[in-house]
Amino acid sequence: MEIIKDAKELKKIRKNLKGSVGFVPTMGALHDGHLSLIKRAREENDFVIVSIFVNPTQFLEGEDLDKYPRKEQADIEICKRAGVDILFMPTINSIYFKDELKILAPQIRGYILEGAKRPGHFDGVLQIVMKLFNITTPNRAYFGKKDAQQLALITQMVHDYFLDVEIIPCEIVRDENGLALSSRNAYLSKEEKKRALSLSQALKLGANMVAKGILNVKAIKEAMEKELLKSVDKLDYVAIVNRAFEEIEQVEIGNTIILVAAYVGTTRLIDNIWI
Ligand code: PAJ
Repeated sequence: MEIIKDAKELKKIRKNLKGSVGFVPTMGALHDGHLSLIKRAREENDFVIVSIFVNPTQFLEGEDLDKYPRKEQADIEICKRAGVDILFMPTINSIYFKDELKILAPQIRGYILEGAKRPGHFDGVLQIVMKLFNITTPNRAYFGKKDAQQLALITQMVHDYFLDVEIIPCEIVRDENGLALSSRNAYLSKEEKKRALSLSQALKLGANMVAKGILNVKAIKEAMEKELLKSVDKLDYVAIVNRAFEEIEQVEIGNTIILVAAYVGTTRLIDNIWI
């Protein structure tokens, strides 16, 4: 496995790769969720490139940029064992420039839900993903459904900017209790980890209501909110949207996502389920 730190150097190396390239962008502190993306990329491509970069432009003022978990050595080992060909760990100066032009998230879909709670977050995500796509020019890029709105916006960017990459959505990986794996779970105490289960439990409750034939979005949201408020410290939102992230009144089976965002202690968690 080669470790590359300079964007221009990676671009050169990429040009000489003969065969398909699968790309998995991450911010590191790799867990089994990331690993599932890497494994899938390994199965479906001749070469696998993984990036690890804690991207400052997607963190808002006062967010956890400084304390975001960094586990460089362990991450390198995980990538080696998973058969990654190239690990890209860019230096900030090789990919960000002074007074550079900006990519802006769409004004509606980029500013609801996560975008409403974290205004500007998706501008930063799209900016770095666009750069990473241009550096690695992958045939396929792998993203988790865990960050459903991010996945939708990146899919939209590929469409709107005529990019030549296939976006592969990957299933959410959970621990044995149902907690969606996340690098931020490292912030949770034992007691908080238990309360964090309420997110996936509330989603299950919503999915069960749908299974019973209750399709009314308001009723499902109310039941989920009631359940969540027993355990979380602050509920940011329960939302039920279609796959295009538009508001709906009735669940459309096969075209709906139920999402939750909540604080447990000082840790902000998100989770969702595709119906
Ligand atoms: P990060 O949070 O490190 O996530 C990297 C990728 O792993 C994302 O596509 C995310 O959805 C996926 N992922 C995280 N937890 C997962 C889980 N439990 N199951 C399945 N997939 C999971 O998302 C980012 O980094 C950044 O915003 C990035 C796209 C790299 C841009 O900086």
